[in-house]
Amino acid sequence: MKIFFITSNRGKVEEFSKFLEPLGIEIVQLNYGYPEIQSQSLEEVVRFGIEWLKDKVPEPFIIEDSGLFIEHLNGFPGVYSAYVYKTIGLDGILKLMEGVENRRAYFKSVIGFYYKNRSHLFVGVTHGVISTEKRGTFGFGYDPIFIPEGSKKTFAEMTIVEKNKLSHRGKALKEFYKWLKENLKY
Ligand code: IMP
Repeated sequence: MKIFFITSNRGKVEEFSKFLEPLGIEIVQLNYGYPEIQSQSLEEVVRFGIEWLKDKVPEPFIIEDSGLFIEHLNGFPGVYSAYVYKTIGLDGILKLMEGVENRRAYFKSVIGFYYKNRSHLFVGVTHGVISTEKRGTFGFGYDPIFIPEGSKKTFAEMTIVEKNKLSHRGKALKEFYKWLKENLKY
């Protein structure tokens, strides 16, 4: 089965492909921009995105929205993570966190799947801490500065398989995988 993934992020496509490979699912990237509404909720952003896209792109399709929420910064950059990454970047975040003791943060991922005229949402959260310096070369985005709970490595020091076991997206993907198995009778 082919599922279209509406995203410009190749890193996310690789994580999805790796995870859903055992089900024989082929993820086809479709770089088609869609509006991301201003909202504090990733779920709302995803629901709106699906509604906007459903008559414009082939079915079944998925979109995914994620963000990094830092406790000391009251949840910033959160739903603005992509914009903040492009502007102040990792160095800007590390600067804001200079000398800060409470380094707790979490990543959240919301996958929206549109299939047979219905939307399904799958959510994953991973808690961790912001490192004091950038480490690692794998992955994308904030991976070099995020250390998930129970690990010493940043996400950028992990292979895709390792990261998928711990990451917010991996957890959302696990729920999505379960749903596909049950509902598509694999
Ligand atoms: P969006 O989901 O495409 O809006 O991206 C949200 C922002 O969070 C982007 O800047 C990503 O780079 C970042 N982000 C989302 N997931 C991850 C991840 O697994 N690792 C590192 N950064 C991520």
